[in-house]
Amino acid sequence: MKTRLMIPAMILALASCQKPAEMKTSSAMKQEVFGKMPDGREVKIFTLTNSNGLTARVTEYGAILVSMETPDKSGKTADITHGYDTLEGWLTNTSYLGATVGRFGNRIKDGKFTLEGKEYTLATNNDPGGIPCHLHGGLKGFDKVLWSGKPVGDNGVEFTYVSKDGEEGYPGNLTVKTTYTLNDDNELKWETSATTDAPTIVNIVHHSYWNLSGDPTTSINDHELTLRAPHFLPTDIGLIPTGEIAPVAGTPMDFTKPKIIGERVEADFEALKFGGGYDHCWVLEKGEGVRLAARLKDPETGRVMEISTDQPAIQFYGGNFLDGSFAGKGGVKYAKRSALCLETEGFPDAPNKAAFPSCVLRPGETYKHVMIHKFSAE
Ligand code: BGC
Repeated sequence: MKTRLMIPAMILALASCQKPAEMKTSSAMKQEVFGKMPDGREVKIFTLTNSNGLTARVTEYGAILVSMETPDKSGKTADITHGYDTLEGWLTNTSYLGATVGRFGNRIKDGKFTLEGKEYTLATNNDPGGIPCHLHGGLKGFDKVLWSGKPVGDNGVEFTYVSKDGEEGYPGNLTVKTTYTLNDDNELKWETSATTDAPTIVNIVHHSYWNLSGDPTTSINDHELTLRAPHFLPTDIGLIPTGEIAPVAGTPMDFTKPKIIGERVEADFEALKFGGGYDHCWVLEKGEGVRLAARLKDPETGRVMEISTDQPAIQFYGGNFLDGSFAGKGGVKYAKRSALCLETEGFPDAPNKAAFPSCVLRPGETYKHVMIHKFSAE
């Protein structure tokens, strides 16, 4: 039985799930005006569809995934992301819904880091446990700027943004490209690359909030999660990693086998107390190239999302800070744990932890991050 957070049950599905291969049509893309920035600049939105009835909408504002519609096991299609119906919502949102987050996603202790002997000070725009830190690129990160979008390749949109030297306190002019592609294997690929003209730090992450039921009034506590991650990063009360890389075995952080999220979220375990639930970075199994990192399933609708990446880690954030204080799509007030984020990434606070994989990017190098969401139903 689903846990209802606010409103009654959704309508049951009608049609069948998979169209036979011979019915496949070519994919299509639509480009429209989504709205205007406060300074009058026009913001475009692109609609990507595939031959199996999946639809992804992406916008130039924040290189945001606005919606993702996928069929459930009986073929009923629904949007499985939190967000807004109009651009205005995103302009004021502070929860990074669907956004491309940067220059450094996740947290940096005290908003400070030293690079090549020079100390840099970033905005401290977050304070879990009452301890200020830098989060997700600062006061006006990549989620709050206008990117420039254009169609590319077969059913893709490429967004470009140039982050100036000194923007939000980061050194170096950083040129960023983020591409969304939707293919007929039901894969939404988010891919980011960046180059710089001076040493800097980079950790650009995709920050969609998922509720695979398609009903944003339900809890994700009943979703089943698998993480191909034998270790996680314990944090202090300010959610900054302590530097320890701890085994998940025997703890409520163990998702190496499929587990229902809600079963252990209230366990008496320090990391869960500090995070107010799941809000941690898991260290993925080592491997080469793009590989499976996570599998999420809603047992009731049968929707499955698999995430593959080339990154070393993944943040599983269980939506603990959602509190119904703002209304999103359809006027729904998003309640605590009504969605979750799975953010492939480098390690949080890596700029201050020499033992963590480096997030430093130098001139002549290219930062690359691939994240593939593959949708199915069973
Ligand atoms: C973090 C949360 C944070 C949220 C903000 C997540 O990536 O893990 O701690 O509150 O982003 O939307």
